[in-house]
Amino acid sequence: MPERSKRLDSIPPYLFAEISRVKAEAIASGADVIDLGIGDPDLPTPEPVVEALAKAAHNPATHRYDETPFGWVSFIEAAADWYGREFGVRVDPNGEVVQLIGSKEGLAHLAYAYLDPGDVAIVPNPGYTVYRVNSLMAGGEVHETPLLEENGFLPKLEDIPVEVARRAKLFYVCYPHNPTGAVATPEFYADLVRFCRDHDILLVNDMAYATVSYEGFRNPTVLQVPGGKEVSIEFHSLSKMFNMTGWRLGFALGNRDAVATLAKFKSNIDSKQFPAIAEAGAEALRNVDNSASLAVYQKRRDYLCDGLNAIGWPVRKPKATFYVWARVPVQGMSSAEFCKSLLERAHVLTIPGTGYGTQGEGYLRMSLTLMGDREGERFQEAVRRIQASGLLG
Ligand code: MLT
Repeated sequence: MPERSKRLDSIPPYLFAEISRVKAEAIASGADVIDLGIGDPDLPTPEPVVEALAKAAHNPATHRYDETPFGWVSFIEAAADWYGREFGVRVDPNGEVVQLIGSKEGLAHLAYAYLDPGDVAIVPNPGYTVYRVNSLMAGGEVHETPLLEENGFLPKLEDIPVEVARRAKLFYVCYPHNPTGAVATPEFYADLVRFCRDHDILLVNDMAYATVSYEGFRNPTVLQVPGGKEVSIEFHSLSKMFNMTGWRLGFALGNRDAVATLAKFKSNIDSKQFPAIAEAGAEALRNVDNSASLAVYQKRRDYLCDGLNAIGWPVRKPKATFYVWARVPVQGMSSAEFCKSLLERAHVLTIPGTGYGTQGEGYLRMSLTLMGDREGERFQEAVRRIQASGLLG
């Protein structure tokens, strides 16, 4: 066989490919693993969405290529309407919205559509690995902005060197934030819009967790900020909102030129989503809400966070996302060492913060999506096991 490209050799395996391997080993050894690893909703996709897929799959019009420029029209229109209802901002379904095969695909391909050698992508550390890896694979350079707890896990724009800002073409952010659960403010987005406008950078706002939030909280969006649409493209996903990770469906919206650039790149790579899936996605965006799932996550969040606090491990309850980002509670142990010990001694699988970047050292992430849990009983069990493991001293 010929050798793989140097590009591919320069990147690590996808984080969750590694985690799945470790989990499979633990399960094969007979352990009853409580898997707080990947953020993959365990509740089923709502029934009306499944029914819409079945109905659409019987329509032969969905069996052929989708030859539209930006995506299946009923889906694109539903996405634009949903955005208007949720965030009060109008986007034009004719050119300001593009359908994606999941937001991961779009976030990755955007890097290839914009970066040439010498160009810079500014990415968060810790952050979703897809921004960094694909910016590098596309031939660009990466500047990591540290997201520190004392700054609310927001990047400090004044710390970005002028020379970096001058060469930067993309600035990736994600709020509500994976992995820390941090949220943004309109003031932060206004500063970011100004920064990107001043330096001619495309602001890439990953909002995969836009509607995963509790107690009525709604993260603002960058398009709500005056001038936001001039410099931004925002990514949304049906995965986390409607329990549809396996369906691979998302959309990007915002600046017309950025949307067209991504659509041009994609038209040379993929031939869009199976239209019946897009029809089902339109049904979800128009007629389904995720309040039932949120109630379950909130209950689990409270059992986990209250339980850990009660046994002497201080953790903060996230306002949004289904991730609990906690400090490693044992002095002198790295994130990886602690997560390994937790798996070995409590059979609780968590993600070391370093999986999301060097600034994740000293932290770990626990997901509130857990197959087999109904009312939070497995989260209570996780707390019991962590206490019994003796790791907290
Ligand atoms: C995560 O757990 O970080 C996410 O589920 C990964 C993803 O969405 O691809």
